[in-house]
Amino acid sequence: MKPPPPSLNSLPLFLFLLLSAVISAATTTTNATSKLPPTPSPTTETPSSSSSSSSTLDPKQIEALESLNIPTARDPCIQPSPHNATVCDSSKPFRHLVSLHLSNCSADLSLSFTALKSLSSVHSLSFTNCHTYPIRFPYDLSLSLTSFTCIRSLRRLTGVWLSRFVNLTDLTVSFTPVNTSGLYVILGNMHKLKTVTISHANLTGSLPRHLHLNLTQVDLSDNKLKGNIPTSLTLLEDLEYLNLSSNGLNGEIPTEFGDLISLKNLSLASNSFSGSIPDSISAIPGFVHVDLSNNQLNGTVPRFFSQLKGLKVLNLENNELHGVLPFNASFIKKLAVFKVGGNSNLCYNHSVLSSKMKLGIARCDKHGLPMSPPPSKESSGDSDSSDYEDDSADDTSENKEHHHGPNKVVLGVAIGLSSIVFLIVFLVLLSKWCG
Ligand SMILES: *[C@@H]1O[C@H](CO)[C@@H](O)[C@H](O)[C@H]1NC(C)=O
Ligand SMILES: *[C@@H]1O[C@H](CO)[C@@H](O)[C@H](O)[C@H]1NC(C)=O
Ligand SMILES: *[C@@H]1O[C@H](CO)[C@@H](O)[C@H](O)[C@H]1NC(C)=O
Ligand SMILES: *[C@@H]1O[C@H](CO)[C@@H](O)[C@H](O)[C@H]1NC(C)=O
Ligand SMILES: *[C@@H]1O[C@H](CO)[C@@H](O)[C@H](O)[C@H]1NC(C)=O
Ligand SMILES: *[C@@H]1O[C@H](CO)[C@@H](O)[C@H](O)[C@H]1NC(C)=O
Ligand SMILES: *[C@@H]1O[C@H](CO)[C@@H](O)[C@H](O)[C@H]1NC(C)=O
Ligand SMILES: *[C@@H]1O[C@H](CO)[C@@H](O)[C@H](O)[C@H]1NC(C)=O
Ligand SMILES: *[C@@H]1O[C@H](CO)[C@@H](O)[C@H](O)[C@H]1NC(C)=O
Ligand SMILES: *[C@@H]1O[C@H](CO)[C@@H](O)[C@H](O)[C@H]1NC(C)=O
Ligand SMILES: *[C@@H]1O[C@H](CO)[C@@H](O)[C@H](O)[C@H]1NC(C)=O
Ligand SMILES: *[C@@H]1O[C@H](CO)[C@@H](O)[C@H](O)[C@H]1NC(C)=O
Repeated sequence: MKPPPPSLNSLPLFLFLLLSAVISAATTTTNATSKLPPTPSPTTETPSSSSSSSSTLDPKQIEALESLNIPTARDPCIQPSPHNATVCDSSKPFRHLVSLHLSNCSADLSLSFTALKSLSSVHSLSFTNCHTYPIRFPYDLSLSLTSFTCIRSLRRLTGVWLSRFVNLTDLTVSFTPVNTSGLYVILGNMHKLKTVTISHANLTGSLPRHLHLNLTQVDLSDNKLKGNIPTSLTLLEDLEYLNLSSNGLNGEIPTEFGDLISLKNLSLASNSFSGSIPDSISAIPGFVHVDLSNNQLNGTVPRFFSQLKGLKVLNLENNELHGVLPFNASFIKKLAVFKVGGNSNLCYNHSVLSSKMKLGIARCDKHGLPMSPPPSKESSGDSDSSDYEDDSADDTSENKEHHHGPNKVVLGVAIGLSSIVFLIVFLVLLSKWCG
């Protein structure tokens, strides 16, 4: 037996190189596009002040700041102050604080009535990560506040405590439990309110029957609110943002909902709303973000969504919607997020939409009914049915992932190529032995 010629010795190496080249090509063509979901950021306005004034802060207020562990070695009125904690007006002979933001307070910080009493010039007060105990605010300060923010702070609040800030235009309480018998206790006397956020606060009760008509923003997400949407809510003509997600709300979306003509962002997600999506909603021209997911909405998907020019996000997943999806591919591709999965009786028209769009719903038969059982939520992407893709795995926030295919194709080519190479080697060896 002669050893094989050196050229044949290097064949396995060549094979290996070929394979790895093909596989690396496969991985680069399947760039997973990932995009972070837009995070809404409540904007808090800080009053601006002219820093030209040469006078400094009222000594009483300096003392108050020191008692709140805010460094005063540097004039707190010089802008920008560290973390924008303090903003002053330009009054003389002494300037006064108009804005005070306390954050990441030390554990031993306590609010003193005396300190707060000398801070009654403050209009905007905010606490972030300050687990100090709330005390009763001096009357003057309560009336002076137009903006109050409390995020992960003050341990626990009551409706009555908050209700004293009657001149507020902006109220934000988040990740702080609020104990109250109802929202009306808090909001009832705040006649100037424009924006209200009370979220992640274990708020109980129902939505108030009367809301202030000048509200532009209402975020009551992630609480324990019950009951239905009162028609009085639909009177808020200036409302641009409404988030009632993750509560225990139920009933139908009122037919008058379309009266909310300024609405841009709406989430009613993760409640128990039923009935159909009211046609009146088509009267709202400025919709940007609509999330009605995780309810029991039935009826068909309204066609008018495709007429909304500014729409970016449409999430209708996990409801009981049925019928033929009334959208074409150019509309769906225009959106940043489009989700309709988890509606077992909803289907798409195969001559209008491609299975490659991976909508998470079944294809329609000629009667407009789902052809085969819709994708079960548990089944992880199996390969034999290209029509169905489980995209219920929450926040992919991306409907344009068409790049699952090439991987398999390229792998197939790689396997085919390597078998051919093996065959050639085998034939060469065979011819050597026989020759
Ligand atoms: C893959 O991602 C890189 C950078 O993230 C990008 O430059 C490249 O164009 C992407 N390739 C494909 C095929 O999408
Ligand atoms: C409204 O929705 C759009 C699109 O998702 C988003 O970019 C924007 O930040 C949202 N606005 C607010 C106030 O959350
Ligand atoms: C302070 O406020 C100014 C103007 O309002 C803003 O541009 C800046 O980003 C803020 N800085 C911090 C640390 O918040
Ligand atoms: C507060 O702490 C958080 C987390 O430790 C940090 O990201 C943030 O910048 C801090 N803010 C201020 C104003 O110090
Ligand atoms: C706040 O409201 C009270 C009445 O509730 C009013 O008398 C007072 O002038 C208001 N204060 C400010 C600073 O607007
Ligand atoms: C709300 O209540 C639940 C349990 O009742 C608790 O785990 C959660 O921490 C509470 N949330 C807040 C913000 O206190
Ligand atoms: C809320 O307040 C009521 C009345 O003040 C009280 O009975 C109840 O125990 C409080 N609930 C919680 C969770 O603290
Ligand atoms: C609502 O806002 C408008 C203008 O922003 C103002 O003229 C009107 O007085 C406000 N209404 C109430 C009841 O505050
Ligand atoms: C509504 O609030 C939830 C939780 O606070 C948040 O995750 C979601 O993005 C908000 N939806 C809209 C449309 O802003
Ligand atoms: C839709 O839901 C409503 C309210 O739950 C119910 O009355 C109605 O019968 C449902 N319609 C269909 C077609 O299931
Ligand atoms: C897709 O639907 C939109 C809205 O209904 C329509 O304006 C557009 O012409 C349609 N495009 C195609 C290619 O059919
Ligand atoms: C699907 O679309 C085609 C072409 O627009 C149409 O002729 C057909 O009736 C549609 N099928 C269903 C079930 O809606």
